[in-house]
Amino acid sequence: MFEPLIWDNGMLKILDQTRLPDEVFWICCKTYEDVASCIKEMKIRGAPAIGIAGGYGVAMADDKEKAIEVLKNTRPTGRDLFYTLERMKNSDCNPLDLAKQIHQELKERNRKIGEYGLSLLYDGISILTHCNAGSLACCGIGTALAPIYLAHSKGMDIKVFVTETRPRCQGARLTMYELSQAKIPATLIADTMVGYVMKNRLVDLVLVGADRIARNGDIANKIGTYQIAILADYHKIPFYCLAPTSTIDLNIEDGSQIIIEERDKNELGYNFDCLNPAFDITPNLLIAGIITEKGIYSRNPNF
Ligand code: MRU
Repeated sequence: MFEPLIWDNGMLKILDQTRLPDEVFWICCKTYEDVASCIKEMKIRGAPAIGIAGGYGVAMADDKEKAIEVLKNTRPTGRDLFYTLERMKNSDCNPLDLAKQIHQELKERNRKIGEYGLSLLYDGISILTHCNAGSLACCGIGTALAPIYLAHSKGMDIKVFVTETRPRCQGARLTMYELSQAKIPATLIADTMVGYVMKNRLVDLVLVGADRIARNGDIANKIGTYQIAILADYHKIPFYCLAPTSTIDLNIEDGSQIIIEERDKNELGYNFDCLNPAFDITPNLLIAGIITEKGIYSRNPNF
């Protein structure tokens, strides 16, 4: 497991996830502007980890309001950043103490998510996950990877299929790295192979994270999640989403109201016109359940 964010002597150290797995490189952020650019450039990524970093960013600022404004305008889709910024804005506590508390709370929430998720696993199960919803994305034991870490620590026989997750390859670079470090059996597949592994009954369960969850249980998650959910539904493979309650946006009724971040077309790596939405929406109808630190909610939960 990894700790991608460390508060050290007035600085926030960020493990640069754009360099993994080739290089372990720490960036020392001394200002909220440093933190904002790390979030924008995806040196720190994953909705909960972005939220935690944002809290430390505000704690570094002399002008709290200004820092909140700058941090708000980094990545629009993930809910956790806005959750943290709202807490930082509305609290009279010492900002650094609050940022540390949010960090700690998240780790505890992840553990509970893992314990609820563990109830779905059994010896011999094969799980498919998309993108990276592990400790790099969330701190602690992650969200979608949390039950997998717990099952492995209990000696259960599990294996994991990991999608590459083009264009930024968080599955290939980050999830495979996390699982290999933990010695959890994992197999990498290209995003185009999901139908193949499902049709051939190589997968029993899908576990993914979320960047924002609407009140009706529609989720925004990494681009490609929607097509995995459709394939899982067709092949009658249960599809679960795991996320802390800080990812739930009670202000929005359904997924159509979630802003999808469009990233630079160059990320696709071709010199042609390209489309590059970073996330997509999976409707609640395709989701067997949403697992938070409070329990397992069935489809259409009406949070
Ligand atoms: O663009 P990223 O790497 O920040 O996107 C991350 C994801 O989509 C994760 O699946 C999501 O944040 C859930 S991780 C807790």
